[in-house]
Amino acid sequence: MTVHFIGAGPGAPDLLTLRARDRIAAAPVCLYAGSLVPAEILGHCPAGARLVDTAPLSLDAIIAEMRAADAAGLDVARLHSGDLSIWSAMGEQLRRLRALGIAYTVTPGVPAFAAAAAALEAELTLPGRAQSLVLTRTPGRASAMADNERLAAFAATGATLAIHLSIHALEALVAELVPLRGADCPAAIVWRASWPDEQLVRAPLGELVAAAAGRDRPERTALILVGTVLAPGDFDESRLYAADYPRRFRHAAGPR
Ligand SMILES: C[S@@+](CC[C@H](N)C(=O)[O-])C[C@H]1O[C@@H](n2cnc3c(N)ncnc32)[C@H](O)[C@@H]1O
Repeated sequence: MTVHFIGAGPGAPDLLTLRARDRIAAAPVCLYAGSLVPAEILGHCPAGARLVDTAPLSLDAIIAEMRAADAAGLDVARLHSGDLSIWSAMGEQLRRLRALGIAYTVTPGVPAFAAAAAALEAELTLPGRAQSLVLTRTPGRASAMADNERLAAFAATGATLAIHLSIHALEALVAELVPLRGADCPAAIVWRASWPDEQLVRAPLGELVAAAAGRDRPERTALILVGTVLAPGDFDESRLYAADYPRRFRHAAGPR
């Protein structure tokens, strides 16, 4: 028996890896984080599978489901939104399973920041603009953050920022960023990237709060992106594809 942790992607049912689909299809028990995993993905579960929405469950109750499946010799597909490597609570589940001697696997998924970047048709690292991307959040009720991980510290680097779990704090976050990045710094918000009700706004940082207000928004599932990479136009071309740049699989143009 094995618990298969699976990144279920940002929302669109076809943004799922083939491995994820196959593991879901082979597991007679599926534990899924109901708020962000779409019903269509559960359609890959085998007929008669036990489906459990873990949104209202405690960690103890989730582990109890896994132990029951283990006792019955049934594989489990454990679905989390996006990818498992960020804000999935996978780490604490793996620790419990290791202590219990229950086997597991980990299958990555498409993270929400990648779906948001696709919605914006944006490359988040552009030559001469930014070569780093910070995946971060602001502190939450249940999630304190160390001072050296504060947004201001990351913003000061000039890296592109992908700010999760923070749309409720938009105003405060913008007020913190404007002195560091300037009111003109390009920014965007993508709500429910890849879902049918996806929405996006682009605005300079100083106008972002106003641009986000006044319309019906899907809800709190949103990513805030900040950085000069979001402004189309003038940036350096990558050296990698320059005609005069020799690399392993292609020689520089000209006589050899
Ligand atoms: C608990 S975290 C999960 C992140 C997820 N593991 C990932 O790889 O993207 C939830 C946050 O991710 C972001 N998020 C998740 N799905 C999203 C989507 N489809 N569109 C925009 N933001 C999304 C939002 O910031 C949301 O508050």
